[in-house]
Amino acid sequence: MKKTKIGSAAAIVLVVIACVFAGVYQKSSTSMMDENVANIQEETEQPNDSWPEQAEEVEEAEEEEKVEEPEEVAELPEADKSVYMDATQDTEVRIDALMAQMTLEEKVAQMVQPEQAVLTLSDITEYNIGSILSGGGSAPRGGNTVTHWQNNVDNMKYASITQTRLGIPLLYGVDAVHGHNNVADATMFPHNIGLGAADDEELMESIGAVTAREVRATGIQWTFAPTLGNARNELWGRTYECYGEDVDIVTRLGAAYVRGLQGENGTDEFLDADHILATAKHYIGEGYTAYGQNQGDVVMDEAEFDKLLHDSLLNPYKALLDEGALTVMVSYSSVNGLKCHESAYLINEVLKGELGFTGLVVSDYNGVHQVSGSTYKDKVAQSVNAGIDLFMEPNDWKVFMEALVELVKEGTVSQERVDDAVRRILRVKFEAGLFEETVGAKREVELIGEFGGEENRAVAREAVRKSLVLLKNDDVGSKTAMEALADSTNILVAGKKADNVGAQCGGWTISWQGSKGDITEGTTLLEALENAANGKNIVYSQDGEVSADTDAVIVAVGEDPYAEMQGDRSYSNLTITNEDKTMLNDLKASLTAAGKEDIPVIAVLFTGRPVTIADYVEDFDAIVEAWLPGTEGDGIADVLLGDYDFTGTLTYTWTWYASDIESKFDNGSEDLILFKKGTGLTKSGESLKPEGTTVINAKPVKSEAELASIREGIIDLSSTGYVLEAENYTEDSYLVGRGNANNISYVDGWSGEWANAKWDILIPEAGKYKLHFYIAAEKDSDTVSIYYAPGEITDDGAANKTAVPMTKTADLLDYQDFTLDVSLEEGSYEFKFMNDTANGAEFRLDRIEFEYMD
Ligand code: BGC
Ligand code: BGC
Repeated sequence: MKKTKIGSAAAIVLVVIACVFAGVYQKSSTSMMDENVANIQEETEQPNDSWPEQAEEVEEAEEEEKVEEPEEVAELPEADKSVYMDATQDTEVRIDALMAQMTLEEKVAQMVQPEQAVLTLSDITEYNIGSILSGGGSAPRGGNTVTHWQNNVDNMKYASITQTRLGIPLLYGVDAVHGHNNVADATMFPHNIGLGAADDEELMESIGAVTAREVRATGIQWTFAPTLGNARNELWGRTYECYGEDVDIVTRLGAAYVRGLQGENGTDEFLDADHILATAKHYIGEGYTAYGQNQGDVVMDEAEFDKLLHDSLLNPYKALLDEGALTVMVSYSSVNGLKCHESAYLINEVLKGELGFTGLVVSDYNGVHQVSGSTYKDKVAQSVNAGIDLFMEPNDWKVFMEALVELVKEGTVSQERVDDAVRRILRVKFEAGLFEETVGAKREVELIGEFGGEENRAVAREAVRKSLVLLKNDDVGSKTAMEALADSTNILVAGKKADNVGAQCGGWTISWQGSKGDITEGTTLLEALENAANGKNIVYSQDGEVSADTDAVIVAVGEDPYAEMQGDRSYSNLTITNEDKTMLNDLKASLTAAGKEDIPVIAVLFTGRPVTIADYVEDFDAIVEAWLPGTEGDGIADVLLGDYDFTGTLTYTWTWYASDIESKFDNGSEDLILFKKGTGLTKSGESLKPEGTTVINAKPVKSEAELASIREGIIDLSSTGYVLEAENYTEDSYLVGRGNANNISYVDGWSGEWANAKWDILIPEAGKYKLHFYIAAEKDSDTVSIYYAPGEITDDGAANKTAVPMTKTADLLDYQDFTLDVSLEEGSYEFKFMNDTANGAEFRLDRIEFEYMD
């Protein structure tokens, strides 16, 4: 689960409270909200399959601790709901009537969004919480089925409307970014990069509509999607969340998808019980950060940035506002060193001013913690004043509320600003019909019936078919490789990725970063090929072992699942996994040994972006880029073995080598390009678009040193912003302690273990460097030693060694800068990090920055 831990005590409290409210469900009275209770009873049978278990826990819990009843706010009058609950009134009139009755604390409570995993129902009622999210992988405690979600969300929504003074409905948000991807057995669509290749607006609408209904089945009314970035540097681990490298396609597909999610603006279906609110994210410029770094900095002349902003980056946002999008999420990234989260220019002036946005602006997960300011309170002031309305503060929601109340009382944040923020949030709630919503309505329960069902999966299967891009299709004998495949009878399917739903789905699937394996209901490529075999013989070998009668090979390779941060790469490791490379070498040897060099070899790539495949391109007769297609592998077999032809084309420019990504948009860079944007072939070998190409340029000549660094996965500092951090590594780098905080090394005090981490680094330029070690330490005086030597450290005694002292830091997330001055030659170095004291201080090394001095 993402970034949060739930104490078991808190879990028990929630269960207890849940049952208290379950009891409340039984009561009925005459108020508007209580009609909802009656509706629930009439319309739904609450599917509470996890509750008998909970009852036992409740008894235990009662012995352990007294559960506090939600506190009555005695001194406040009962709310007058006559106007704001009256759906015939104008929205702004309803907002006025409601806001006139709200205290400052109640207003601030509308401005915060805690994570469901850390929240109890009594928190909701005691603090009048207005919004909740489920972060990546944050499933209900009881279980991850659609029913568990529906119960959990409904209980929270119910608490907010029946157990708070004002009864303001809760706005619940989730990352449904390729289907309702946190929930087991949901329909998982291809990630956006594949949908860009499909480039079909009608299809986007259908995907949006299906996703909305699956999200609605869980009682949720808001998705944090779509991403409107256009990735200019595929080192960025979120490249697959973007439809393409150009703004135009992002604008068209983003708008179509939102039409599907929300329903057509201005019609009756708009935000009705089958639709959900969309989010335009992440505002803005995220695809342009230096080195493709996640949460990085867009470094650009101010005037040039402003031109880019107005000529292109704002276009998708404008298009979404036209579709009626009511929420915008701010990007973690910065523009020339200033975080978007604190840019009054970008939020207040451009988005709310120029674009006239009247909905709500939400911060990204803990985003407020990253803005400037020496205290948390300063940071809150900065970002509220810059124009953020709703604060995604998964864990620190209480501190946030206290800080904001104080800031208003002190006058650092004006009452007007808070009123404006609350007005916007309430406007979204009114426009989305939340005040008229029936918790657990009949429609919601019906939607459970179609959740992950055949009809929904058929839409995903169509999307998979259309997202495939045939990048290469050489002749094998007198036919193209794809035609030869059609004639074959004994097909070898090779590679572990051929039979792995988790790998097909990528990140943001069941868990935040995603994972390999049987993580959810779906059809793998292998199963799909078997389903479509139609008399052909399908033989599977994970290791690529060819048999005597094999007459065609389909080999699956690619990247392992990742999401934001952990998906960032350096030049040398933006490629397929080592496991897959080994398999390809074995396959090649096996083909040679069997004398079968002439049979068609068709590669199916499962990657979230263009990756370096320079050493393998020639071994494949055909290359099918399948991206991260999601759960419906049948869509791939429909094309490979069925009658469908390829229709997808590349929306990214694909270089031979990742080290040339930064030059790929320059004039005269043609020789560096492996596949042009627009590339896409048919089975017979025709190019689908005139601008695509069937010609692959010759492999560019690279120096031995660069090739060696690529082969050995050495971290090239010039591609990481001269920072060495955990996010630069792939799964097979050694001794990278990711821990909770993605540290590159750590020692746990209690275990007395020694830190012993090694990194191979390519120094791009000789000179003096100041190394900055960001260390969090539990106590003073223990030292760590840094060893470094050109090439490899074969002998500790011969390596340079410097002891860096550590001073106690505030806590283990407070990384302080310890520096070391060194002279380094150009070329590869090994760095080693040793703790000098066994049983010493607990510490964490977050990252090393290499500052070039001269
Ligand atoms: C991501 C957002 C996401 C949010 C909530 C953040 O880390 O950047 O895209 O919506 O988490 O899970
Ligand atoms: C991230 C680091 C970051 C640190 C700050 C970690 O989760 O991985 O990149 O510097 O948090 O607290």
